[in-house]
Amino acid sequence: MKVDIAKEVDEIASRYSRESGNLIPILQEAQEKFGYLPEEVMQRFARFLRLPESTVYGVSTFYAQFKLTPTGKTLVKVCRGTACHVRGGARILREVEKRLGIKPGETTSDLEYSLETIACFGSCALAPVMVIDKNVYGRMTTTKVGQILAETK
Ligand code: FES
Repeated sequence: MKVDIAKEVDEIASRYSRESGNLIPILQEAQEKFGYLPEEVMQRFARFLRLPESTVYGVSTFYAQFKLTPTGKTLVKVCRGTACHVRGGARILREVEKRLGIKPGETTSDLEYSLETIACFGSCALAPVMVIDKNVYGRMTTTKVGQILAETK
């Protein structure tokens, strides 16, 4: 189903005044709605807030919470925290990168997978840890990466 960007943007904008201080809450709402910040959305909000497009783009690239590309159907996160690092987290990340063909912050071209890293997932006893959507996989090995990714297809 095609999303009517103009209509959705107007709907979000209707809840805000045109003050530049509203930019971040507006972008947060937009991201929740679209899953990321499409260029057209940023352009429309720039016009709404009477801000240069470069300002809106600058804010959305500055804050890590904002995504400028769509997120894949399956979100894979690999922990880069100390406990995971010590137990081979970097190897796990390299294996995921190799199998998906993407780096952290990227999405596969078929929009199936996105890859992110996390600082610590709070499950250090299970290090190294990988998380797929809401499922936590502990004591990861490179072999398990292949098996688990195959199961998510
Ligand atoms: S360091 Fe990876 S879960 Fe804590």
